[in-house]
Amino acid sequence: MVWRGKFLFLEFMGIFDSFKRSLKGYVPLKNAFTPFKAGGIEAKNRFFRSATWLGLAAENGEVTQELTKRYSDLVRGDVGFIWTGLVSVSPEGVNLPRMLQLHSKQHIDSLGRLARSITRAGGKIGIQLAHGGAMSKREFNGRKPVLAPSEIRDPRTNEIKANEISIPEIMRIISDFTHAAGAAKAMGFNAIQLHLAHGFLFNQFLSPRFNKRSDQYGGQRDGRAFIIKQTLEYIRNAIGNDFPIWVKMNCSDFVANGQTEDDALSLASHLMGWGVNGIEVSGGTPDSGKLGPCREVFKTIDEAYFLSLALKIKKVSRLPVILVGGIRSTGIIEDVLIKGIDGISLSRPLICEPLLVKRFSEGDLSPSICLSCNECFRYSYESGAACAQFVEE
Ligand SMILES: Cc1cc2nc3c(=O)[nH]c(=O)nc-3n(C[C@H](O)[C@H](O)[C@H](O)COP(=O)(O)O)c2cc1C
Repeated sequence: MVWRGKFLFLEFMGIFDSFKRSLKGYVPLKNAFTPFKAGGIEAKNRFFRSATWLGLAAENGEVTQELTKRYSDLVRGDVGFIWTGLVSVSPEGVNLPRMLQLHSKQHIDSLGRLARSITRAGGKIGIQLAHGGAMSKREFNGRKPVLAPSEIRDPRTNEIKANEISIPEIMRIISDFTHAAGAAKAMGFNAIQLHLAHGFLFNQFLSPRFNKRSDQYGGQRDGRAFIIKQTLEYIRNAIGNDFPIWVKMNCSDFVANGQTEDDALSLASHLMGWGVNGIEVSGGTPDSGKLGPCREVFKTIDEAYFLSLALKIKKVSRLPVILVGGIRSTGIIEDVLIKGIDGISLSRPLICEPLLVKRFSEGDLSPSICLSCNECFRYSYESGAACAQFVEE
């Protein structure tokens, strides 16, 4: 009877309730709603929208009204900083349908309208610059040859699937990145992010699986990273020192003969000296199976799957680090920030619930309802990103 009274008293004081909720990850967000000010980026909170290709650009790579609406929804939903989805800097680098591109005046005009619309609404937006390299597809890149660090042949038919990039082509691609970065700054984006992860061109250069070159762009670790160093040098010379350059990099490719953890730590240790302001840590490639960038998340213990390697990257790089990959519940969000990561980056949960951050800020601390089923990817491919839980088929 006495015990029951004590129990009711504690229950009444909300103590048991908060204990029970913290076990499930319903932890109050103390750090996540403090302002982000690091690496040249200022945002009202620690939440980032990780770059997400939504399959909603026009066929020619321009921004559409629907795409602008999706980004505006994220501003309404209190996301502190939005990275756009992939933006291909070169026509041949397109690897997915209805993907943004930035290599013509029309692209500049339409991306400029997007940047203005988001920043006028009070949002912050950075642009992710990418090149698909070996992943590019002739059906989406205007039937241009596919370029890769080294030639790729079909093992069965011996047919050439990708041509080795010549040195003049490397210099042209570096120049495409430099022009795109200059245009992004002029258009009013708040930062650029170079895509060094997920099996895209720069990741292919870093990976001995793709890079078998014996010139200055291949060989040992530093040679494989040389194209990144050179691209950053050109971009810095073009845009000056006051504009933030971030990278999204793999902590490991988690694939045989790919970029290893040691390669990633070595790269990270150079980035500050090469003019980078901040890092988003991801991992995996399309060849990594279950260890790819978009993993399954069933339980709290599956969340934030790159955290331990991200902390190592933070230490060696001495740069601000944001973390992406499987972050779903407030307990994990706070834990990641308390451990020293500067920002939380989300992709699938914001396809599922664009107003998730606002929901958290209003006190509903239940975890993201994202099932991490990756069906959103299929919808992006077919008609435009959507969460399977809300699509009536
Ligand atoms: C539909 C879809 C599109 C994506 N597009 C991009 C992209 O354009 N650029 C990128 O770096 N990562 C992209 N990703 C990967 C995400 O940014 C993120 O790294 C990954 O989904 C893990 O984070 P999450 O668990 O918060 O979804 C995409 C993921 C999905 C599901």
